[in-house]
Amino acid sequence: MAGNFTFTMIKPAAYENKHAGKILDMILQGGFRIKAIKLVKLSYEQAGEFYGIHKDRPFYNDLVTFMSSGPVLAAILEKENAVDDYRKLIGSTNPADAAEGTIRKLFGISVQKNAVHGSDSDENAAIEAAFFFSALERC
Ligand code: TYD
Repeated sequence: MAGNFTFTMIKPAAYENKHAGKILDMILQGGFRIKAIKLVKLSYEQAGEFYGIHKDRPFYNDLVTFMSSGPVLAAILEKENAVDDYRKLIGSTNPADAAEGTIRKLFGISVQKNAVHGSDSDENAAIEAAFFFSALERC
């Protein structure tokens, strides 16, 4: 059965460019409930751990540098079928390929600065949520 939550981050460029309010509104209007939320400035090491699965990819160092360059707004989002439905709401990894009306199409400016992160599986949603939030911080 599909899990009922996913994990997201509004990435540094989208936060810096003042898109967080509009993105959160799209998330809420999309039927997701916010179960936990906080603004976090990751260190290079923390961002590197979060993206550890990509450590051998050519874009890893630039990505980790970017993700630790400013605050991210991290959140746990609840909805039936949350992982897949959120991936639909955000669109393809590359904003240029993302469907019209998706968060990445509207607010992404490059593959790296693609506005938001969204978990790609229930298993990763649980790992990523636990990376940012303790049980006490989750409603
Ligand atoms: P990936 O897991 O492939 O995409 P998604 O975020 O859609 O699950 O990649 C993780 C992040 O890595 C992606 O959001 C942006 C960054 N990235 C790059 O900077 N360059 C690239 O060429 C790719 C494929 C990803």
